[in-house]
Amino acid sequence: MGYNSWYDLECSESMNESTLRQIADAMVDTGLRDLGYNYLNLDDCWAKGRHANGTVFADPAKFPSSTLKPLADYVHSKGLRFGTYTDRGTATCAGRPGASNYEKIDAETYAEWGVDYLKEDSCNAPSDHDTAFQQYGRMRDALNATGRPILFSLCGWSAWYAPVGKSLGNSWRIGPDDTDWSGVLKNIDAMSGLDKFAGPGGWNDPCLLLSRQWTGTSRVSELQTRAQFSMWSVLAAPLLISGSILNMSTDTLTTYSNREVIAVSQDTLGIPGRRLYGSSMADGRSTTNIWGRQLSNGAASLVFLNVGPQPETLTCDHACFASMGFAATDHLKVRDLWSKQQLPDVTASTLTANLPPNGGHLMVSVQKESAQENQLLV
Ligand code: GLA
Repeated sequence: MGYNSWYDLECSESMNESTLRQIADAMVDTGLRDLGYNYLNLDDCWAKGRHANGTVFADPAKFPSSTLKPLADYVHSKGLRFGTYTDRGTATCAGRPGASNYEKIDAETYAEWGVDYLKEDSCNAPSDHDTAFQQYGRMRDALNATGRPILFSLCGWSAWYAPVGKSLGNSWRIGPDDTDWSGVLKNIDAMSGLDKFAGPGGWNDPCLLLSRQWTGTSRVSELQTRAQFSMWSVLAAPLLISGSILNMSTDTLTTYSNREVIAVSQDTLGIPGRRLYGSSMADGRSTTNIWGRQLSNGAASLVFLNVGPQPETLTCDHACFASMGFAATDHLKVRDLWSKQQLPDVTASTLTANLPPNGGHLMVSVQKESAQENQLLV
């Protein structure tokens, strides 16, 4: 959980050390840090070049020391961890120095600066699997050799990373950039079937959380910000807010601060959610989906999602509940995690939701009444 600068600041004037320090302050002041958002991750456009000895340096117009160390120190002083970005190819997606053949010296530099998280992109690099795995393997080994724990986040935009992801890093992008709502849907679709590859230590990454940028514009509606957050929590996806922390709307802060949804995301069993109803949404084959995630203590969480232009009614039936481990005879307690209300108990294992269009959703937790409670009810 944390913040990523990309969709907020991109390569703008505002992407600089001073803004990032203010963002660190705001992560504390808004309460986000204490909710668990503890990574502040700087994305592309910080690197400027290499010294004669090969060491990478930061753009001095944005980072006065030409390094990321003072920023990392400041971020640490706020009780946060510091992340940064590179690329396995010859240049990053924005044309900054890439790590190809500099893995060892770059990993050492990052460790020296106090980096806790490294995202490595895939621009300007060969696209075949073997080379990709070799390059990521080189950076993995170089990071491990530093002795500093550094979360390694692969950014290769493809589902073919999932089966090997855990051997290479701690998270791996499985789809395209989610630059807008249709990109969010493409990433949800791409997650289908990948749950078996992720778990504690390594996670499928369907890209960044979208909300209002520092400029005030947003790529998605407030409802879609909340729908994405619900889905990412059931998917056990990294929760990296890539919207403005300094200019965040009250609704978005409320969304990202929902402790019950965060608890689903961070459930210690670490079993990612699965699609229980519907099929791909980005291509219009389905306008509705139900996804479910099994949680500790025999509980589960379900997200009912409508991405179509009309209101929809959607039912999780016996088979849907059975795939989350519930029997038709179970007496189930259901809680709406956004209205924070108990819904009427479910007795015959069917639950129906009425969903508004364009991102309308219901997110619930489901739990069996304990045997003892059942007896008391009788
Ligand atoms: C790629 C990545 C994005 C972002 C940009 C930066 O497009 O997928 O997440 O890091 O590069 O240039």
